[in-house]
Amino acid sequence: TALEAGSVDYELGGHPDFMYKEMTEQPDAVDRCLRGRLDRRFMSARLDGIGLTPREYQQIRRVKLLGCGSAYYAGQLGAELIEQLARIPADAEPASEFRYRNPVVDPETLYVAISQSGETLDTLAAVHELKRKGGRVIGLVNVVSSSIARECGSGLFLHAGPEISVAATKSFTNMGVALALLALELGRVRDLSMADGRRLVDGLLALPAQLAGILGQEPGIAGIARKYAGAEHMFFVGRVQGWPVAREGAQKLKEISYVHAEAYQASELKHGPLALIDPEMPTVVVLPADDLLAKNLSTIEEIKARGGPVVAVTDADLPDGLVTDVIRVPRAERELAPITHSVALQLFAYHLAKALGREIDRPRNLAKSVTVE
Ligand code: G6P
Repeated sequence: TALEAGSVDYELGGHPDFMYKEMTEQPDAVDRCLRGRLDRRFMSARLDGIGLTPREYQQIRRVKLLGCGSAYYAGQLGAELIEQLARIPADAEPASEFRYRNPVVDPETLYVAISQSGETLDTLAAVHELKRKGGRVIGLVNVVSSSIARECGSGLFLHAGPEISVAATKSFTNMGVALALLALELGRVRDLSMADGRRLVDGLLALPAQLAGILGQEPGIAGIARKYAGAEHMFFVGRVQGWPVAREGAQKLKEISYVHAEAYQASELKHGPLALIDPEMPTVVVLPADDLLAKNLSTIEEIKARGGPVVAVTDADLPDGLVTDVIRVPRAERELAPITHSVALQLFAYHLAKALGREIDRPRNLAKSVTVE
């Protein structure tokens, strides 16, 4: 890797570490992922690499997304987008468990293997199991010449560019974008209207500038992150498509800061974890301005009533003083809000880890790509 090659200074281009560099590259990375893939005539996506005909898209009855770590959380987000936009039942599963449970492989299901490196052994083994049983599997992969890309034979490249930092940033973002494109195409060959297609196409095109806007808010986010650097534990909560955002946000924090973070569906909080809320237990609430806003606000009230500090990551207009701290993100299209909210949480985890003096690019016990069992 570049780290070993001793070319760090050159490769970093003046950035303090690769995670930072890669976070700042996200507007360009998203732009590359979208290039040539939006179809303004039909307000759809043009996904030649997948190689399915409209009829084959029509025949898909289920979608199953497989990946590990951040790629699994991206898959969970993708499943939500596919169900919402295409009304096809979809779910995500950690690729690491798949082959051990003698999975049912169904010919009318589209399987999607998601991986930045394309070399994660668990994900590759899931692809082998799928192929052995005759499943149709496509790859969403960043590294073009990788094993998973080769084994799948068709799919979408993420075009995020090389990612060196162990903590995934731009690859996660581009997984979200690629899955939104897939959901758009699956939707537009079914009942998603032209108007909704246009709304998503425009929403995707607006993302790079929105992400640049979030990166521009770094000093404010860093200030908030530093305030929480003394916390021993944190909760991250979100509802529906906010849940994978919460999971990825907690994962990022664990990986680089070693602060114990747990993610819950906001509605599950009252079924157990609420017992742990007190003034020493901050909760990050993923709070998009969607039709679940009122529900999320009542979750915030439940946390506040137990004295728990609340950090809201939001594109909603919140009254001052409602929560302890607010990280504001630009308003994205409802389905794409998970992408903007996740980038804000990357910066939060990054600066919290920095405040603790962590070595960002070399988190203990972790590898960029796990190629062993
Ligand atoms: C490792 C990394 C994670 C990553 C996961 C999947 O566990 O530490 O950050 O999300 O592998 O990697 P992949 O290359 O398959 O996306």
